[in-house]
This record gives sequence, structure tokens and C-alpha cells, in this order.
Amino acid sequence: MPHARITGVGYYVPEQVVTNNDLTQWMETSDEWIQERTGIQERRYFTYGEETNASMATAAARQALDRAALTPNDVDVIVYATITPDYFFPGSAFLMQRELKMDGKPVIDVREQCSGFVYALSIADQFIKSGMYKTALVVGSEIQSTWINKSTAGRNVAVIFGDGAGAVVVQATDDPERGILSTHLHADGRYAEDLYVRDPGSSRPDRAATRELLDEGGFDVVMNGNAVFKHAVVRFEEVIREALDTNGYTAGDISLLIPHQANIRISEYVRQQLGLAPDKVVNNIQRFGNTTAASIPIALAEAWEQGRIQPGDLLCMAAFGSGFTWASALLRW
Ligand code: UT7
Repeated sequence: MPHARITGVGYYVPEQVVTNNDLTQWMETSDEWIQERTGIQERRYFTYGEETNASMATAAARQALDRAALTPNDVDVIVYATITPDYFFPGSAFLMQRELKMDGKPVIDVREQCSGFVYALSIADQFIKSGMYKTALVVGSEIQSTWINKSTAGRNVAVIFGDGAGAVVVQATDDPERGILSTHLHADGRYAEDLYVRDPGSSRPDRAATRELLDEGGFDVVMNGNAVFKHAVVRFEEVIREALDTNGYTAGDISLLIPHQANIRISEYVRQQLGLAPDKVVNNIQRFGNTTAASIPIALAEAWEQGRIQPGDLLCMAAFGSGFTWASALLRW
């Protein structure tokens, strides 16, 4: 049976840096509060007219393709994770496919929020294992800066999120020693409203952005931060252990853990629970904030660029987010 292997990684973050101090012009907050509660020092915001969700994804994808020594023509399918698409429909995967001139090639838009990239990777993995496709482009891209409420009322959400994109090329290989060993996906809709954006909801009486809906905050990200935090620390550890158990490994075998960059306190708690040394966990939330579906592929690509990933390494990716969703992928590099 063919096996799926990541053969190229790439990322793109906008140039515009927004520091914690910059945020204080819009809301009552402080650099001290944000760093202490989240670890974040700065994040990137896209520039209107220069960048879009799809253009950032395209830049990340081109870099991943170059590093895999492939061209867009070699790709059989795009799997694109985002909760901030350029249009309500069709999804941004179509816009990236157009940009890469991949006419006729299938695209799949995935949501699944902060777990979106791991879900997308799992979909690509299944296509490759089944023999249906040989090469997939898997991306996560987000523009969060335009929908967060930057007033004091939205500060618990606004300070966390940033913009950016990451991508990987996944290819079929016959080498049983390397590649994706397993993916595990989970969801629990009982907590859907603990982190969500309600509008423009199709089952509302009027999905236009009326003054009333805007005033109600229907278009804002609503988050029960404490609930998200409490579930995240449990589910992260659980889904990482599930990946390890399935493959006969223990936490000590992990070369590098690449968690979704939700909050440095969550990653640090999980690291301690697993008994991992600090250098075994990738943290770049300090510079990019939480970029939802983009955070894992950005962290992966950065770690790879820094030489932190070597052939034979056992990598674990893990995510938790809105839905709730949680997921992991274990791979031998
Ligand atoms: O990818 C998944 C995405 N989401 C997450 O991972 C979120 C997980 N949750 C968290 O990271 C944390 O819950 C937050 C960072 C969002 C909030 O931290 P917290 O320690 O849970 O704070 P809190 O919401 O319990 O609020 C504590 C206080 C409140 O003031 P009072 O009521 O104690 O007077 C808030 O109003 O901190 C206040 N506060 C802020 N103060 C300054 C909330 N946000 C801010 C802010 N700046 N940005």
C-alpha cells in the first residue's frame, strides 16, 4: 500500500507587525497582560489590497512546491483549510487553484477551525493511501485581523489572533520507514458555541449585515476562553498519547512536537504532562499569535528552516479548537 510523505514545506506571513503595545490604541489591554496570559508579543496583519487569504496560501504553496522540486502541474489535489475564506463561497481553494493555473484539478475546502490543517493532512493521507492521488498540496491560511472585535469588548479574543499561511506537499512513497504513520481526528459539537462566529448564519431571519446584527455582535468571534483552555489541555495530551499508543511509541520517542499555537500556557502544560524537554516543542506564538489552521504548517516550516527537523525524526502534530475539534498526526520524517 502506498504511504504518504511530506516532501516540501512553506509558509508566508504578512510584513505588517502588530505589537501588543500597538493593540493598546484600540482597546484597554497591556503588553504585560498579553504576554503573561498567552505568551504573545506580536502578530502579523495582512495589508488590504496587497494580500488575500488565497494569495498568502499561494505564496506558501509555491515555496513548499519549490522545496519538493515540483511544479503546480505535478499536484493532483488541493486540500485547503481555513475559517476565514475570501468569499462566503466558493472557497479560497478555488482562488489558489486559479492562481497556480491548475485548471481541472480537484480542490477541497476544509473548515474544522484550529484543527483544520491536521484534518486536511488526514484527508490527503487517505487519498494517497487509497491510490487515488499521488501528490497533494495541503494548506492552512487565515486572515483573522478583519473579523476580530478590536474594542475593549473583544479584547480577550482580539489579542490572540494573527494572519498567515502555511503549506506542505504530500507525496506517495513506497518507503515504509518514512511518512505519515497515523492521523486521529475528533469532534464534540456540544461545545459549538464556546468558540464561534454566528453570522452570516443561513438560518437567521436576515443574513445581511444589518445594523441590528452588527450591534448584537453576531459577526464577532465569541469565545468562552476558560472552557476552551480547560478542554484544550486535556484533549491535546489525549490525542498525542492516542497517536503514540497506536504506533507503539511513548512520549520519550518524540523528536519534535508541533502543537497548534493556541496559547503558550497550553503548550507548556502539555509539554510538562508528557515530560518533554523544552527544545522538543515548537513555539512561535510569541511572534505570530494564533493563526488557527495556519499555525501548524507555519511552525513546521519554520522548524524545518531552522534545521530542527532531520531525516528519521519522529514528529507529532496536535491541535485543538472550535467545534470542539482535536486531532493529531504522527510521522517519521
Ligand atoms: O485555538 C483555540 C483558540 N482559543 C484558545 O486557545 C483560548 C484558550 N483560552 C485562553 O487562552 C485564555 O482563556 C485567554 C487568554 C483568552 C484569557 O485568559 P484568562 O486567564 O482565561 O482570562 P479571563 O478570560 O478569565 O479574564 C481574566 C481577566 C478579566 O478581568 P476581571 O473580570 O477579572 O476583572 C478580563 O476582563 O482579564 C481580563 N481580560 C483582559 N485584560 C487585559 C481579558 N482579556 C484581556 C486583555 N487585556 N486582552
